[in-house]
Amino acid sequence: MRLKDKVAIITGAANGIGLAAAERFAGEGAAVAMADYDADMGITRAQELKEKGLNVQFFQVNVADRQSIDSMAEAVKAELGKVDILINNAGITRDGMLSKLSPDDFQAVMDVNLSGVFHCTQAVLPFMLEQGRGKIINTSSVSGIYGNVGQTNYAAAKAGVVGMTKTWAKELGRKGINVNAVAPGFISTGMTAKVPEKVIGQMQGMVPLGRLGKPEDIANAYLFLASDESDYVNGTVLHVDGGIMM
Ligand code: CAA
Ligand code: NAI
Repeated sequence: MRLKDKVAIITGAANGIGLAAAERFAGEGAAVAMADYDADMGITRAQELKEKGLNVQFFQVNVADRQSIDSMAEAVKAELGKVDILINNAGITRDGMLSKLSPDDFQAVMDVNLSGVFHCTQAVLPFMLEQGRGKIINTSSVSGIYGNVGQTNYAAAKAGVVGMTKTWAKELGRKGINVNAVAPGFISTGMTAKVPEKVIGQMQGMVPLGRLGKPEDIANAYLFLASDESDYVNGTVLHVDGGIMM
C-alpha cells in the first residue's frame, strides 16, 4: 500500500484522468476526496468505487470560485481529518484560433486551469504547513510546454501552472512540502473526444509509442509523485506523453 493512511484531494475526479487517479489512489490505501463541479457524475462514480470497497467521498467544488474551494477544503478536513496530497487536476478547454478566440473563452480557461490551481493550493496549504508535510501535484500539458494550434488560452494557463509549480517548490520545500507537475500528452478522455478526428490522427502519428495515452498512465505518474517514493523529487515537470515532442 503506497498511500496507506494518506488523505488526498483530487480535483476533476468525476471523469477521465481524475477518476482513474481516484481509483488508483484509493486502491493504494488513501482516503480520496473526489472534488468536482459535476455532482451527478461525481456522486455516481464515487458510489461505484465505494462498491468496489474503496474509501472515496464526493465533494462538490467549482475551482473557479474561491468560496466554493474554501468550503470544500474545510469539509474535507472536517470529514477526513487532514490533507496530505492535493492533485490539481480539474481542467477545461475552449479551443479557438487566435483570430477568433473570444475574451470570455480566454478568461474561462484561465479561471479554471490557472487561477483554480492557485486558489485550491492556497486553501489547502495551511493544513499541510500545520503537519509539516505534503505533496502537491499540478497538471500541466504538452500544450503548455510546446504550444498547440487553437489553444492560446489553454497553453498559457498550462505554462503558468509550470511557473507556479517551480515557484512553490522553492517556497515550500523547506516546509516539508514537495510540489511537482505532470505534463500529459494526448490522453483518451472526454477532453480529447471533442478534438477533430484529423487532428487526433496527426497527434497520434507523432507519438513514438504509437498510441494515445490512457487515463491510468497519468494516474500512475500522479501516484509516484504523491507517494513517499518521490520524497526527493521537487519542482519537476514529469512528461507523460509517449515521447510526443522529443
Ligand atoms: N496544425 C497546423 N495547422 C492547423 C492545425 C494544426 N494542428 N489545426 C488546424 N490547422 C489549420 C487548418 O488546416 C486551417 O488552415 P487553412 O485556413 O489554411 O485551411 C486553419 O488552421 C484553421 O483551422 P480550422 O478550419 O479547423 O479552424 P476552426 O476555426 O474551424 O477550428 C479549432 C479551430 C477549434 C482550433 C480546431 O482546429 C480544433 O479544435 N483543433 C484542435 C485543437 C487541439 O488540438 N486541442 C487539443 C484539445 S485536448 C487537450 O487540450 C488536452 C491537452 O492538454 C493536449
Ligand atoms: P475531463 O474533461 O475528462 O475531466 C475533467 C474534469 O474536471 C471533469 O470531471 C470536470 O467536471 C472537472 N471540472 C471542470 N471544470 C471544473 C471546475 N470549475 N471545478 C471543478 N471541476 C471541474 O478531462 P481530462 O482529460 O481528465 O483532464 C484532466 C486534466 O488533465 C486537465 O487539467 C487537463 O487539462 C489535463 N490534461 C489532459 C490531457 C488529455 O489529453 N486528456 C492532456 C494534458 C493535460
